Amino acid sequence: MNLKGRSFLTLKDYTPEEIAYLIDLAAELKEKKKQGITGNHLKGKNIALIFEKPSTRTRSAFTVGCVDEGGHPEYLGKEDIQLGHKESVEDTARVLGRMYDGIEFRGFTQETVEKLAKYSGVPVWNGLTDTYHPTQILADFLTLKEHFGKLKGLKLVYAGDGRNNMANSLMIGSSKMGIDFTILAPKALWPGQKLVDLCQTYAKVSKSRITLADSPDAAEGADAIYTDVWCSMGEEEKAAERIKLLKPYQVNHQLLARTNKEDTIVLHCLPAVKGNEITEEVFERFSDVIFDQAENRMHTIKAVMVATLGNM
Ligand code: CP
Ligand code: NVA
Repeated sequence: MNLKGRSFLTLKDYTPEEIAYLIDLAAELKEKKKQGITGNHLKGKNIALIFEKPSTRTRSAFTVGCVDEGGHPEYLGKEDIQLGHKESVEDTARVLGRMYDGIEFRGFTQETVEKLAKYSGVPVWNGLTDTYHPTQILADFLTLKEHFGKLKGLKLVYAGDGRNNMANSLMIGSSKMGIDFTILAPKALWPGQKLVDLCQTYAKVSKSRITLADSPDAAEGADAIYTDVWCSMGEEEKAAERIKLLKPYQVNHQLLARTNKEDTIVLHCLPAVKGNEITEEVFERFSDVIFDQAENRMHTIKAVMVATLGNM
């Protein structure tokens, strides 16, 4: 599989085979790291990490993943560079593309990360925008695969803000990989119809099902329940409204009981607001798998960098 030179902006651009390849490569790199073997796939590569929004996992994953493979990461926070203050995205991209071999971007609009890719001429990786969070999905799916031994045929239920970056990206990834995917959210927070229609075309090929539901009955049969914060970064002023809308969709022991299964797991991309989208008790019960998920951010992000930029 040759992904050299490709950007990673949204899972829409990747085939199921390419997504599976990245997950398998991550598993391989993880195994090697556990044995104390790191590589030099990124030797001589300089990588820019642009962050308009804060991050613990994504920043650390890009930094550690890059250094493990012999590369040099440089953090460029929003107060550190001219982007958005004095300089356009197009000009920033053309400058960084002359100095760096790859660029990670986390920020607000999807348009910015797409422009960076268009104008820099080097691989650009989406570390989260308001619309998508594609690297997170690779970590989530690696975790599901480690736990269940497969992806195809699993039932994944996402409870919470059904139109945020996580819901969008999980819907794309699941429909591509043959996972039955349910959004459990009030109608006001369902994903956009255009994206649902697109994902239905993927689901047709992978023979999976997409369901939009506003009744907790939809948790029935879930192998995994996934949740995320009710207010994404940049939406803090919506807190009161969201709490009102989403309280019935909290991941708690009552919702878990609705699965009618003993072995359902709970996933969370983190950071978590315990007491809102998930109870402390449920969070702690599933903390092992949730922190595997967090660790897997590093192995999967490393795989993306190695596959698109590495000397392989
Ligand atoms: N899950 C995730 O993207 O975490 P950070 O915001 O800490 O990067
Ligand atoms: N939806 C969340 C995801 C954080 C990883 C946010 O955008 O803040």
